[in-house]
Amino acid sequence: MIERLEDIKKQAENELRNAVDEVTLHNVKARFLGRKGIITEVLKGMRDVPQSERPRIGQAINEVKEFIEGLFEARLREIKEERKRHILLTEKVDVTLPGKGTRLGNKHPITQVMEEIVGIFERMGFEIAEGPEVELDYYNFEALNIPRDHPARDMQDTFYISDDVVLRTHTSPVQIRVMEKQKPPIKVIAPGKVYRCDSDVSHTPMFHQVEGLLVDERVTFSDLKGVLTQFARLLFGSHIKVRFRPSFFPFTEPSAEVDIECVICAGKGCRVCKNSGWLEILGCGMVDPEVFRSVQYDPQRYRGFAFGLGVERITMLKFGINDIRLFFENDIRFLKQFL
Ligand code: DAH
Repeated sequence: MIERLEDIKKQAENELRNAVDEVTLHNVKARFLGRKGIITEVLKGMRDVPQSERPRIGQAINEVKEFIEGLFEARLREIKEERKRHILLTEKVDVTLPGKGTRLGNKHPITQVMEEIVGIFERMGFEIAEGPEVELDYYNFEALNIPRDHPARDMQDTFYISDDVVLRTHTSPVQIRVMEKQKPPIKVIAPGKVYRCDSDVSHTPMFHQVEGLLVDERVTFSDLKGVLTQFARLLFGSHIKVRFRPSFFPFTEPSAEVDIECVICAGKGCRVCKNSGWLEILGCGMVDPEVFRSVQYDPQRYRGFAFGLGVERITMLKFGINDIRLFFENDIRFLKQFL
């Protein structure tokens, strides 16, 4: 019996020392000390031990039990310590490494320039007006002195929704909507999306315009020149040269186009300005009396000027971009340059 206990003790010691994780350790303990374990088995053998031997054997059994329990506890502490040390070594964080950083987005270049343009006119006292992108033929053309079958309709390639409804080809229809609702004085800008059936390096089917309209009793062409010259200087720099070149629009008379000195070659002549030294930035003119008649304004009493500009075109000139389609491809390598 005593020998058997010695064997059990050695075997338990061996197994406990070799257990490398908590589960194995608990299993070893259970196999020796559990209800159906080896020690229980030994206790059953006490029946065959003579009465006089029993205290000695009993004590020996208890010693083995205590030995196993003690070793179990000690080994458990060791395993826990080892695991802690392992975690500290393998999961350590190097706080001196550079951080990952959060990438911030930025406004789309068109939005930035749109806001800049709108901001300039707001500071001059213009209010913002809006109109629908799906527009009646009447507002997009007819009230702007572009009757059906008029050759001027060919100036713009129109998306037709039906005979009377179009995707607006410009922001000029907002002029009519504002004048229908308000009496002069009027001083508004209308920023927004416009649509034309056209696509190449300088045209996309959707683009942005900012329209302007100022109507009062004594408005002259000099007012128009003053406002738009100041606008060009604020947008492109105070030294920029500006010229007004005669042009034609059905809704203005006289009409003009505004050019700035080429920002690429400083007026010397290059590919971008087609060797002219000038870049067109907007169309403008004095509101045509026919337009006033279509909103029941007395053309004898009121005068006004209007203008319209393309935001993509101005953004391309400002940043030296040669393909308008870059704005709509959403390539992050392009967009993140406009911080
Ligand atoms: N609506 C014209 C266009 O899209 C731009 C324009 C020119 C607007 C002259 C105006 C203007 O208000 O007076 O081409």
